[in-house]
Amino acid sequence: VLGTYARKPWLLLPAELAHDLGPWAVAGASAVLGQAESPRWSSLTWQGLQFPNPLGIAGGVDKNARNVDHWRRLGAGFVEVGTVTPKPQGRNPGVIIDRHIPSERLWNRLGFPSDGAHRVRTRLEQVRNLGRFNSPIFVNIGKNRSTADDVSDYAEAMQVLTPVSDAFVVNISSPNTTGLRDLLRPERLRPFLQELMTARPPNTACPLLLKLSPDVTDEELEKTLDLALDAGVSGFVLTNTLANGPHLGAAAFPHHDGGGVSGRPLGSVSEHKLQLARRFIDSAAADRHVLLVSVGGVLTGEDVRRRLELGADLVQVYSTLVFSGPRFFLNVAREEWTRNQ
Ligand SMILES: Cc1cc2nc3c(=O)[nH]c(=O)nc-3n(C[C@H](O)[C@H](O)[C@H](O)COP(=O)(O)O)c2cc1C
Repeated sequence: VLGTYARKPWLLLPAELAHDLGPWAVAGASAVLGQAESPRWSSLTWQGLQFPNPLGIAGGVDKNARNVDHWRRLGAGFVEVGTVTPKPQGRNPGVIIDRHIPSERLWNRLGFPSDGAHRVRTRLEQVRNLGRFNSPIFVNIGKNRSTADDVSDYAEAMQVLTPVSDAFVVNISSPNTTGLRDLLRPERLRPFLQELMTARPPNTACPLLLKLSPDVTDEELEKTLDLALDAGVSGFVLTNTLANGPHLGAAAFPHHDGGGVSGRPLGSVSEHKLQLARRFIDSAAADRHVLLVSVGGVLTGEDVRRRLELGADLVQVYSTLVFSGPRFFLNVAREEWTRNQ
């Protein structure tokens, strides 16, 4: 146990402090461990975007695009920034993050704290101007908690961020913004996606990916995929966090109301949803390459490989960066090179 904390001293800090120091720690880790070139393994090209490797950071890790180049130097094959809301807003009041180290699970109810679309755009312009950042950048967009109109916030975020974004991830699956997941109901989703498609700035081909919830039945997921493919969505990120509550049994955080659970308990659910989505898309949209991004409970290099074998094009992580630290991407790359020697 002592050895673990000596190697991972951030686990000794209170969860919220460790979370808030994260961006500085990442910059420090990149200065010590960072590499000039992105590690290449299982490279792929999709819609003209070139991924040196298929492993990236999940939504929420770099909400405000403060560390995009550091994540590349630490070995990420692509970066997703956000969730970005059109206007700046703070985090939810009260306790917003907790963790249970032995069972490798996290709880959060941050609620889209964001510097806002304009600040994030400026940072991404700076990254792009550096010239050395040539991996894809996804921008995850959400709505301000004070906005009643669902479509207008997403449309505004797209308007501002299109010039710096290789793909948008439309986040309607966070459990931490009241009413957001209602948009996943078919009678809401169909008009929402249609309006979103028409709200895209003209003459841009920026693909839209939909980020999905794990808290749905298989039938509901298939219905969502069907509807979204019909509306012209280019891919899916699955999944977001599990809604916290007694239904999670031992995986729940009973002393916290609401919020989302990630890490180990999400692994089998996320894997199952990936398999289902792969099967459905292979039969319903065999004529086009719909991008599938698997996220949730990916904790080891073995987990990454398994998701790829199950049909994920790309894989993302959040919780394992808390439990294993920022060497994760370079460690997985090294494992891949050793395996393929
Ligand atoms: C502290 C925290 C903040 C998060 N913030 C966001 C977010 O802003 N947008 C989003 O789409 N997902 C967010 N997520 C969800 C992750 O992107 C991911 O879907 C989820 O954590 C499952 O992956 P994991 O088990 O590897 O953590 C957040 C997760 C955590 C733990």
